[in-house]
Amino acid sequence: MEFFVDTADTDEIRKLADTGLLDGVTTNPSLILKSGRDFQEVIKEICAIVPGKPVSAEVTALDTKTMLAQAKKLTKIADNVVIKLPLTMDGLAACKKLTDDGIKTNVTLCFSATQALLAGKAGATYVSPFVGRHDDISQDGMGLINEICVMYRQYPEIKTKVLVASIRNPMHVVRGAMMGAHVSTIPPKVIYQLAQHPLTDKGLEAFTKDWEQTGQVI
Ligand code: E4P
Repeated sequence: MEFFVDTADTDEIRKLADTGLLDGVTTNPSLILKSGRDFQEVIKEICAIVPGKPVSAEVTALDTKTMLAQAKKLTKIADNVVIKLPLTMDGLAACKKLTDDGIKTNVTLCFSATQALLAGKAGATYVSPFVGRHDDISQDGMGLINEICVMYRQYPEIKTKVLVASIRNPMHVVRGAMMGAHVSTIPPKVIYQLAQHPLTDKGLEAFTKDWEQTGQVI
């Protein structure tokens, strides 16, 4: 499974990129607001931190024509920009056109299997079903991921990657991986949680103490 980080915080992205474990970055207008920075400037910086890796930059227009005009500007920022579009009829039409032009897309705000089917038909590079926001309203976010994975598997001609979005905890990542979702976009905090285990900490403490007692050095 590929791991993207879901943030526009360039310090966080740099730290994670240094681990070599990061496969891409996703942003959205709310994350840009949180960064307090200029949209195009921050996308440019992120693209340079992870050269060659997909960086999703979201259009803000609601109609196809303006979405395409915004996409044109955003793709000029760097080769690794992926155009993020909302899952609306206008967004899907823009997605189809960009796909036909060889531009990578991420269709976002997906909340149903029917929407995901349309994203596949539009040739989206990624579809982003939002798990946490489903769970927030007592619906089964991971159930939706499973439906989409099963559905796409019936049609090998669908090349769209399932990108688990709106992740709130490590189990969302694990369950997505078990279902065969291609990518998880994960908040930085949850990426660090993936590596944590109290028995690892306890075991390491004991090994470190015992090693000190040997008096040896490597
Ligand atoms: C996906 O690309 C979105 O940016 C993101 O995962 C939304 O997550 P949220 O529901 O935590 O805002």
